[in-house]
Amino acid sequence: MRAIVLVGGFGTRLRPLTNVTPKQMLPVVHVPMIERVVSWLGRHGVDEVVLSLGYRPDAFLDRYPDDECAGVRMRYAVEPDPLDTAGAIGFAAAQAGMDSTFVVVNGDVLTDLDLDALVAFHRTCGAETTISLTQVDDPSRYGVVPIAADGRVEAFVEKPPVGEAPTDWINGGTYVCEPGLLNRIPDGRPASIEREVFPDMVDAGVLYAQRSPAYWVDAGTPATYLQAQLDLIEGRRGNAEDGIAPDADVDPSAEVDHSVIMSRASIAAGAVVRDSVVLPGAVVMPNARVEGSILGPGSVVGQGASVGGLSVLGNGIEVPAGAAVDAARLPDGD
Ligand code: GDD
Ligand code: MG
Repeated sequence: MRAIVLVGGFGTRLRPLTNVTPKQMLPVVHVPMIERVVSWLGRHGVDEVVLSLGYRPDAFLDRYPDDECAGVRMRYAVEPDPLDTAGAIGFAAAQAGMDSTFVVVNGDVLTDLDLDALVAFHRTCGAETTISLTQVDDPSRYGVVPIAADGRVEAFVEKPPVGEAPTDWINGGTYVCEPGLLNRIPDGRPASIEREVFPDMVDAGVLYAQRSPAYWVDAGTPATYLQAQLDLIEGRRGNAEDGIAPDADVDPSAEVDHSVIMSRASIAAGAVVRDSVVLPGAVVMPNARVEGSILGPGSVVGQGASVGGLSVLGNGIEVPAGAAVDAARLPDGD
């Protein structure tokens, strides 16, 4: 089985971290997001991944020079201009010559979904495409998908207004597809699978979906990028992972609680880091406090300063000694 992994978005909601690093190259407890996605696909029998790239392809090409990721063969389809989700699938499928059942995944979704069960259900239904659904508290941020008893999709509503979603089961961003899907994707212009192609398929009665209770998170916002990592160190997905990198430097008098401290980061004497993620090489100076926040690579929290309220510091940002940063993105704007 082959899979197309969509990684060509701008990662706007994770700015400023994504100003430098594409979303799916950001580390999730020491491992790039993309490696976790590809490793999950590999465990379910996917033997080749087509990375559908647009924004900053070099970050991927440089990191995986041997065209292999997590033990899975990888090839690249680089769009000259962003084609949006359907256009990207069409472009990647054409480059790879997809001619049998294939999988498509959103590259920012971390899940323990049983992909084999989804493929089996897809075959039973004789669907042209089968979507995996997951249940969430706030469906308005996602594609909302009501289904009939046999799994046929009744409607596909992308990001409905708050309170207007017909169900809280949403598009989990994993699709099993027949090549016939490709005939529905317009050639040579951007097109959205969620807003254009899936609604067409609903009308044609060829789109099916299966609900899954498996662990699922779209790590594409500061809150979920943080949560995805705390879930791993809490052991919500099997054995708890160690949040503190072996080469991180944590002073014995610092208090690090429920946090991820990545490679070469340093936490100085008397500092407190709680419910937070500290990316590689970031520095928390003596007696500083970091709570519920994300410190970008090489950023510095000055002596006695505090950072909290889901703040996100971009690469190399310095918070002056004694300053208080709350619910901020630095630098802000684009
Ligand atoms: N190659 C390419 N080209 N990839 C793209 C493009 C593009 O033009 N635009 C977006 N992508 C990639 C992103 O990098 C991401 O991995 C994936 O497509 C989905 O885009 P997001 O921007 O993360 O979408 P979303 O999270 O708002 O919504 C999507 O995912 C939800 C589940 O996580 C939709 O598919 C929703 O229906 C779904 O519920
Ligand atoms: Mg997303």
